[in-house]
Amino acid sequence: MKIAVNTGGGDAPGLNAVIRAVVLSATKLGWGVCGIRRGYQGLFEEDGVVALTRDSVRGITHLGGTILGTTNRGNPLSWPVEREDGTVELQDRSDEVIAEFRRRKIDALIAIGGDGSLKIASALSEKGLPVVGVPKTIDNDLAATQVTFGFHTAVATATEAIGRLHSTAEAHSRVMVVELMGRTAGWIALYAGVAATADIILIPEIPYHLDALCAKINERYETGPSFAIVVAGEGAIEVGGSPTFQESPHTGESARLGGARLGGIAEKLARQIEERTGHETRSLVLGHLQRGGEPIAYDRLLALRFGSAAVELVRDGRLGCMVALRPPEVLAVPLKEAVAKLKLVPTDGDLVRTARNIGVSFGDE
Ligand code: F6P
Repeated sequence: MKIAVNTGGGDAPGLNAVIRAVVLSATKLGWGVCGIRRGYQGLFEEDGVVALTRDSVRGITHLGGTILGTTNRGNPLSWPVEREDGTVELQDRSDEVIAEFRRRKIDALIAIGGDGSLKIASALSEKGLPVVGVPKTIDNDLAATQVTFGFHTAVATATEAIGRLHSTAEAHSRVMVVELMGRTAGWIALYAGVAATADIILIPEIPYHLDALCAKINERYETGPSFAIVVAGEGAIEVGGSPTFQESPHTGESARLGGARLGGIAEKLARQIEERTGHETRSLVLGHLQRGGEPIAYDRLLALRFGSAAVELVRDGRLGCMVALRPPEVLAVPLKEAVAKLKLVPTDGDLVRTARNIGVSFGDE
């Protein structure tokens, strides 16, 4: 028996812990394991598929990133191929991917990825590739699992960063607007915003009114300390508005290669807030700091559990599934079902209610 493992999409703290658990659990069963570098790209590259042994995964549980490398541009169903004139054409190379697995005599793939990568895994599984998925994303936006590894590490990093803004904001009597990752889900912004006692939290699930947001800031300056912390999820939207992109969602380079990049909401809001309230305002984007560095203990454990469970599913012939945390167990969910729905913040959920009860504004009232 020989299995392969790969990591696709944006990295998340805990990827190496999954790889280690996969390699050690499979080795214990007497199987061979290989790692495909950079998603599926390694299949088409010299030295792109490497043998993974106990030695290769020694001492990596605590490391951020992924020893296999990753990419969010390596979709085999929509593969960018440069034409002679320099333009790029997207081609479906999924049959070649499957042929390559067969040629290399790989019996099953453990695909570690987020929404996009698991959709690819699901499509390959439907085409006959034996796959087990492992959910990963700092965004925590996969509905089938209670939580993805990497999320709580990102929240811890963001909470610490926002905490540090309080003193400088207060010293200068400024409004600070911090932009956090999360795409169309506001999980990181909500968790970190509440934990770091932000005054205003803007998430995509609760569109804001600029007037309400500025009124809350003015109220704080009039009745409380004269500074304010605004946390904005990158996908936050104004009522009746649309998300802010770093480049045109239709014509930009990223859009062409399969995913427009959100970003710019903090800078936009800072300008608007300063203009409307007259309070000096600064913005910052926490960006990839949220994805980097060591996973916290919770994420290491979840990642190890997912890796071990994925090997058990392969052993039991339960292919076409994704491992998922449904406390207290890690269970298998059909891949097709797992990628069908994104998990968004419930706007009447207990953390939103808690935030409102302790005086946080979502800019909607
Ligand atoms: O999905 C994870 C994520 O970190 C999002 O929160 C963010 O929008 C995106 O990836 C950024 O991706 P990139 O690595 O292309 O900048």
